[in-house]
This record gives sequence, structure tokens and C-alpha cells, in this order.
Amino acid sequence: MCGIVGYVGEREALQIILNSLQRIEYRGYDSCGVLVQDSNEMEIHAHKSMKSIAQLKKNLSKSKYSGTVGIGHTRWATHGVPSRRNAHPHFDSDGEIAVVHNGIIENFQELKEGPLCNCIFKSDTDTEVIPHLIHQTLKKSLIKNATLKDAVRECLPHLKGSYALIVAAKGFDGLVVARKDSPLIIGVGDRENFIASDVPAVLDQTNRVIYLEEGDIAVVKKDSIYIENDAAEVKREEILIPWTIEDAEKGGYEHFMLKEIHEEPKAIIDTLRGYLSEDGLNLGLELEVSSILMVACGTSYYSALCGKYIIEHLAKVPVQVELASEFNYSDFVLNNMMVMAITQSGETADTLMALKKAKRFGCKTVAITNVVGSSATRIADDTIYVRAGPEIGVAATKSFIVQLITSYLLGLSLANMPGRELEERIADLKRMPQLAQLVIDGEDANIQKQARYLSEYDNVFFVGRGVNLPIALEGALKLKEISYIHAEGYAAGELKHGPFALLTKDTPVIAILTRDNIYEKTLVNVKEIKARGAPVIAIAETGDDEVEKYVDRVIRVPRTSAIFSPIPNTVALHLLAYWTAKARGCEIDKPRNLAKSVTVE
Ligand code: F6R
Repeated sequence: MCGIVGYVGEREALQIILNSLQRIEYRGYDSCGVLVQDSNEMEIHAHKSMKSIAQLKKNLSKSKYSGTVGIGHTRWATHGVPSRRNAHPHFDSDGEIAVVHNGIIENFQELKEGPLCNCIFKSDTDTEVIPHLIHQTLKKSLIKNATLKDAVRECLPHLKGSYALIVAAKGFDGLVVARKDSPLIIGVGDRENFIASDVPAVLDQTNRVIYLEEGDIAVVKKDSIYIENDAAEVKREEILIPWTIEDAEKGGYEHFMLKEIHEEPKAIIDTLRGYLSEDGLNLGLELEVSSILMVACGTSYYSALCGKYIIEHLAKVPVQVELASEFNYSDFVLNNMMVMAITQSGETADTLMALKKAKRFGCKTVAITNVVGSSATRIADDTIYVRAGPEIGVAATKSFIVQLITSYLLGLSLANMPGRELEERIADLKRMPQLAQLVIDGEDANIQKQARYLSEYDNVFFVGRGVNLPIALEGALKLKEISYIHAEGYAAGELKHGPFALLTKDTPVIAILTRDNIYEKTLVNVKEIKARGAPVIAIAETGDDEVEKYVDRVIRVPRTSAIFSPIPNTVALHLLAYWTAKARGCEIDKPRNLAKSVTVE
């Protein structure tokens, strides 16, 4: 999704802005732009590119602009096609006020035809109404000596929709920023300050971060940060970000995705460490619930589906799972449930809406997220942090695995099981990092071989049953989004109810064959698939020799009790997706048409 950055300080802004933009490239973009206030000419200069930020850097390498205030933007088109004229920043008619914006102004057409009908618009974007509106407000302002901040404050109530925005104005030695339903942070430096839609953009400059809250307006100058909300000054806590820039970089791996899969064991350790101590298991929140509703999108939704099996198995507490985008407009009956929103970024618009809806209905809400201070944490009553560290690859990997870990922790916290059984389960859980590592160390070479084979096909099915059905769905999503192979996940017993019609020798089927209570039934399903001529790759446990009689290829995962098998199975499927995409030469970290954080409905 779009990213915005800003800088005010004593150093040259241009390079800092360009570098910050490069650090949030992972969010996905189709065009980009920067603006610097040239202190020599007292002018503001903007540059836009339809290519990459690297290209924009190259174009500007000989530029003579010298300025210590700058803003930048990566755009992911929502209104108006990707083009230079639609790239940000956007200006008022006099070219004196410039805005970069992340979000959507829903009533932009109304504003264009109403109060702004005399303005000349130079783009098709919704954003452009903002600088015009600020300009008009400044001109009309009844407040004597109205400041840019006053004008921004006066304008914002006229904007319907979501925004994180940075406003620069000719001759003004600072930046005005504001947020509503879109994330925005301020990186605090020494005689300089940074603004960005995401922490990695500023992490090479500072780890001191202020998360702006809903409705905040701030004036950021080189040695001051003034924040107000509802027209009154407010203080926001400065948070020290525990990640280093190395954490957020590739660390020698070719792709963030591979690095992040290799970090799965560590992410599990970090997450467990946060909640399991010698004193036992403590999630830090009150968990007296008779039923749970989980809401999420995409991969996080699959983790919720898996969480349902896990929690119902361990705790016998009923769990319902809804896609956030469906739940928001449904007549779902929320009777006294605890609503848990699972979201890696904590910024997914549909999931945030679902949280708000649950709150309106008086439900207790919990956010399960990876991002400290993200919007979800501010909306929900409580938060459980998964500790995956920064996840840069667009495809979620390590965040998915620790979302699963959270379900085990929830299940065990809610379980009413004898002490000894609980201890055994916790011991199982503590073995998960080791099992994940065993897949990475022991099976990667074989997975690469299977991936080369898979990369030749255009259609693939993934099947699983029980707690591994959501893992089959996750395997299919991961494969399709990064390798562009059409992949579908199914319950193994369902193929015969329709999809069998598609099975041929050219549709490999990846079958998760965990030795659980329905192993024999899944094996029957595999035989049915084989009988239709489709090649089968099994994900099977080490020591299960039986399986080789029925399938064409095998990927081995270490044996564990069935309820915990999603962990090693997931690692194997994440690696399979990665290596298949690699064999097809795909751009793995930034798949086409996708963005890391989906902040629009
Ligand atoms: C797929 C993927 C997406 C996200 C989805 C929700 O690999 O990453 O499907 O899972 O956009 O994002 P979060 O978890 O940030 O709410």
C-alpha cells in the first residue's frame, strides 16, 4: 500500500527521503515522488517517477537542490491510473502547499464539485482535494495569523475516509502531519525528526518512535514536535523499537521471504519466551470466555481457522472464524463472545473495522498482532503480541507460524486439563522451534528438488484434513501468490465432490499425510486421487514408510503429536512455495498486484 515519509532537520533532506522510501518499497507501489524545500531559492521542488525509487535516485543524482525539509511518497493506485500526473505530492493551484497522502478520501468528488469547484485540478486523484482545501481555508480563515496547522485542522472534518498525510508549505520550516484510520509514526532524532507510515523507513536513523493516534495533528520541526488532538495539546509516549535495521534487512539471504522462513524457529522461541516462564503460562489478560469469534484476512484468516481446531481440541471452547470483510457487513449474531482479531500488521482496514464493530456490540476484544502500537492495539481492549520481528516479504510466513503458536497458548490457557497433561502439552510446544529447525536443516535440499518439479506445472491442489486443512489452504495461497501457479486448497475428502473433474496427470496434488486419527481416511483419499492419474507429493512424517507405496514423491517432516503437526508442515510448505517461485524466476518479495499492508477496505 502507499507509503509516506518526511524529514525536517539540518541535513540534506533529499537523500534521506529517497533512502526512507526505499526501506518501505516492500509495501508495494506503482509510482513514487519526492519534494524538497530548496532553502536557497525558497522554492519547493517535486520529482515523480513511474519507475523505481532507484531510478528516481539516479535521475536526481546531479540535482542541485539543497534543503533540509522534504517529503516522499510511494503510490499504489486507488483513484486515477498509475501515472506521473497522479503520483504524489499534490499541490494547491498556486503550487505553495504540497501533500503526500496514504488512504482514501471518499467524498473527493463531492468536494471537487462543491467548495472546490473553482480550483484547477491537475490529477485524477482523491488526494488533490486536500492541498486545495488547505489553501482555500488559509485564504478564508477568520483566525488572524492562521497557521498551516490551524488550516489543516479546519479542513480535516470535511474529509470523509482515511488518511495519513504530510503537508509541506513554501517557506515553512516544518511539516504538518495528521492521521485517521491510516498508520503514521514520527521518528525522533537529535535536532532532526522523521515521519513515516512504517517503522522500517526510519530505523536506520533512529529507534525512538512516536505512534500518532487517531485524530492526531502534529507540527514537526527540527527541534520540536507539537501534537494535538481535538484542538488540545497531547503528549504521546516515545517508544524504543527493539529491532535493529539489520533485523529489517535481508541479512545475506537472496530474499526477505527466505530469511523470514529461516527465522521461523526463532520467532517461535521469542513468542514462547514472552508468555511462558518458570511460573507457568501467562498471556497477561483475563480469559474467562464461553466462546470466541476470530476475525482476520488472508493468511491470518487461515491461522484463525487452524486456531479453531487447536483451541477446540485443547480447551473445548467453541471458536467461530469469520473473514473480516464478510463479518463487517453480515448479520452475525454476537452474543457475548470474546472477539479476537488476528492481523500481522495491525493495520488491515477490514480487520480494524471488524474490531470496531465487535466493540460497538459490547464484546470484549483482543488484537493478536506483530506490530507494537499498531492501530489494532489501540482499538482492542487487550493485545497479544506475536513476536515475529519485522516481516518485510509481502507473503506472510514467520508471522503465520507465530499466530499458530498463539492459538496453542490460548488453547492451553483456556484448557481445564490435569496439571500433568498441561505440562506435557507445554513440553510439546517448547519442542516446536527444534522441529521447525529440523525441517529447514534436514529437508530443504529435498524440498528444492520437489519445487523444481512443481514449477513445471500450471495447476496444483493442496489437500489436508482436520487441523491440517487450514495448512493446505495456506500452502495453496503461498504458492499462488508468489509463483503465480494456480493453486487450490481443499479438504482431502472434498475433492470427490467436484474438483475430481480437474484431476489429470498435469495437476499435482500436495497431500498432508500426518499420522493422526484420520490418517487412514486421508490415505484412501490419496488413493482416489492417484486413481485419477494425478501425481501426488506427500508431506509425511519421518518413519512413515507406508506412505511411499501410494505416492510419487515425499517431503519429510519430524513426527509430533497430531495437534502440533501444523508447525513442521507449515515450514515445509513455506519452503516449497519459496523454492517453486525461485525456480520460476519470480520476483518473490514483491509479488505483482499485492501489497504488504492492505489499509483500504
Ligand atoms: C498473504 C498475506 C496476506 C495477509 C492479509 C492480512 O501471504 O500476507 O494474505 O495475511 O493481507 O494481513 P494482516 O495479517 O497484516 O492483517
